[in-house]
Amino acid sequence: RRAGIRETLLAINKLAAKYYYAQLKSEKGKTAHEYLTGRKLSEDTIVHFGLGYANKYSDDLSRYLKMKGYSDEMIIQAGLASADEKYGLHDKFWNRVMFPIMDANSRVIGFGGRVMGEGKPKYLNSPETPIFDKSRNLYGLNRARQTRKPYFLLCEGYMDVIALHQAGFTNAVASLGTALTAGHASLIKRYVQEVYLTYDSDEAGTRAALRAVPILKDAGISAKVIRMDPYKDPDEFIKNLGPKAFEERISKARNGFMFSLEVLEKQFDMASPEGKTEFMKEAARRLGTFDEEIERNNYIEAVAKTYKVSFENLRKLVAKMAVVSG
Ligand code: GTP
Ligand code: MN
Ligand code: MN
Ligand code: MN
Ligand code: MN
Repeated sequence: RRAGIRETLLAINKLAAKYYYAQLKSEKGKTAHEYLTGRKLSEDTIVHFGLGYANKYSDDLSRYLKMKGYSDEMIIQAGLASADEKYGLHDKFWNRVMFPIMDANSRVIGFGGRVMGEGKPKYLNSPETPIFDKSRNLYGLNRARQTRKPYFLLCEGYMDVIALHQAGFTNAVASLGTALTAGHASLIKRYVQEVYLTYDSDEAGTRAALRAVPILKDAGISAKVIRMDPYKDPDEFIKNLGPKAFEERISKARNGFMFSLEVLEKQFDMASPEGKTEFMKEAARRLGTFDEEIERNNYIEAVAKTYKVSFENLRKLVAKMAVVSG
């Protein structure tokens, strides 16, 4: 019985994806299509990711799915419509470009829909359903798992993944507007041992990267962080500077710990002896959290070099801070 529901929900999502795709190709989808090409997506990319359009009429998809024999109840459970007492079913997605979300086996499990231009919410996503668990799926994984690169590029959004794939970086994935979870990390671990974080360069993106590093580390994945400045995100970076420049940023990525110190630096006046000393104390406290002596010493060496202090002094400070903070 349970398996039956899952199969039905998968079938409904698949039909919906085809429906949205056909809408994008139709006359009604002209503006949506122009929106996507305006964002520099090629025809191939649109087809490759199965992008679509949910039109302006509030029950077109629901009516189509009912015509195909699905019950109101199942369409609602799929998250594609809700019931209105007076008017019956009405579609969840309305006048948006649609991004089908697929699981690792390329089955459509949900959607993200973006307003064209300004408007709130910018993205509307399918709710969690028996087939759509946001913390256990990654956008782009069905493609990324096919690449031979030993690492994934982990970014924030749909458009980032798509722009990266279009530029040849087919190992890009995104967590779907939610923070990275242990579930995502163990999913990633099935395919690669290393992740390059390429989150947005704003404060929210920086905070998200700082939180993602230990989650990845706990799953046994080493994390590096790529800088996107002066651009907002990988999509805009690629659009402005192209794939070669992005490749260079990959090669200049810093490891997660060194990145966290760079963020920490901003809280101190590094030009003054007091400020730098306070910073070094906090860095030493964090260095003390590496349990493995070899790893700890390697990091002490790297930090000593970066911040121009002697290895011996820093090693002593690490030991002292460990005593102080118990
Ligand atoms: P573009 O403006 O189309 O380039 O999108 P973006 O991916 O750069 O957007 P942003 O950096 O603001 O958000 C990153 C990701 O978070 C998006 O791709 C969505 O998955 C998700 N997200 C953004 N805005 C919203 C929102 O208003 N609601 C929800 N549920 N998710 C959002
Ligand atoms: Mn946002
Ligand atoms: Mn963002
Ligand atoms: Mn962004
Ligand atoms: Mn963007």
